[in-house]
Amino acid sequence: MNKQLEDFNFFDPEVVKHPFEFYEKLRDEAPIYQIPGTEMYLVTRYEDVKAIARKHKIFSSEINALMQGMEPDPEVVAIMEKGYPTVATMLTKDAPGHNRYRAIVNPAFAEGRIKKMTEKMAEIVNELMDKLPQSGYVDFFHEFCVHLPVWVIADALGVPRSDLDKFKYWSDCAVSAISGMASKEDSIRNAESQLEYQLYFADMIEHRRENPGDDVVSILVNSEVEEEPLDVAEMLSMIQQILVAGNETTTATLAAGMVHLIQRPDVLERLRKEPDLIPIFVEELLRLETPSAGMWRFVLEDTEINGVKMAKGATAMIRWASGNRDEKIFEDAENIDLDRTNTDKHMAFGYGIHACLGVHLSRQELNVAFGIIIKRMKSWKLAEDHQELVYVPSVLLRGLGELHLEIEMA
Ligand code: HEM
Repeated sequence: MNKQLEDFNFFDPEVVKHPFEFYEKLRDEAPIYQIPGTEMYLVTRYEDVKAIARKHKIFSSEINALMQGMEPDPEVVAIMEKGYPTVATMLTKDAPGHNRYRAIVNPAFAEGRIKKMTEKMAEIVNELMDKLPQSGYVDFFHEFCVHLPVWVIADALGVPRSDLDKFKYWSDCAVSAISGMASKEDSIRNAESQLEYQLYFADMIEHRRENPGDDVVSILVNSEVEEEPLDVAEMLSMIQQILVAGNETTTATLAAGMVHLIQRPDVLERLRKEPDLIPIFVEELLRLETPSAGMWRFVLEDTEINGVKMAKGATAMIRWASGNRDEKIFEDAENIDLDRTNTDKHMAFGYGIHACLGVHLSRQELNVAFGIIIKRMKSWKLAEDHQELVYVPSVLLRGLGELHLEIEMA
């Protein structure tokens, strides 16, 4: 039976996991769709998503209440008060304030600087691969996909290997804090973790003031735009955003890539023969998976997009993941196509002033990782007892939460 638009609920866990049929219906029938009973609009066509991202003066990113998990519990507040205040920076700050943060941090993630990290990335990928068995079962998600982005970003920030476990824990708690799904116990744990994170990095910041290195923290500490250096609370917010925005998204893309290569042996075979196509594969993967599936924007004044009126105070949920499968832009959009000529038009890294800070870093990391995986692994398939793909329940991030493989090294 053909489903009608009303049969779908955006927040239904099944739709969150497998949203593409719903997106297609929305793009065809209601590209700017008001969720019944709310002032919330889902925006699903490529051009409309782009238009809203471009109109950042009307569509605000200052979503602090959401990012901090709504009305916090008094116990949570008491813990947070012992630390630094959470200030809105990059992702949660509108222009013109936003410009200052990006101007300071952009050089640390510029393409040229990231290129110089290629060797280090390859070292990390090889080190993680060396730890995998020669053949048989592996929890590939936790042994590889989770570690890689954490190790790479820790290295970029100047966090030593000995602190990686707690670094990963802080990152997970920060993600949980904004998931909108944390229980009271989780929220207390997340606040305690945030406090620990703040004290650790505040110490590192003071150390880097006196002993600057070549790491991102040193760049933040010692930069100033228009003679206005960042204060510690601003730097802590920026580092936290780097962790939250960068780790799970890259992990999700790595895991999804392994599954796509299982499902498309023809693509794998071609990549083995023509490794120069790996960057195209990575872009197609990002386009199809779009782990940062959507983002909120608050409407600051009465406006109209594509003929639909939105009142001041409404919320637009722009779905990058739907725009990236819009057939008007990408022919045969549901499939990986290594000969596609416009794959670089995808919006997996967003668009406009908030476009991803980590775009070069994650691209490079994914290119290096898949290059080495394809060379070093002869074959892989889903493990016998784990044929079903398990997704993380979140409306913002869509990605696998597990990946169990049977592998055979070359
Ligand atoms: C596959 C990996 C990644 C994906 C798919 C991704 C996706 C995105 C998207 C869609 C946005 C735009 C959000 C918006 O418009 O509201 C964004 C922003 C951002 N990303 Fe990424 N990201 C990834 C990796 C990273 C990494 C590795 C970092 C670490 C540096 C990072 C840091 C950020 C930051 C700080 C922002 C906010 C920028 C701003 O508002 O000015 N991301 N990302």
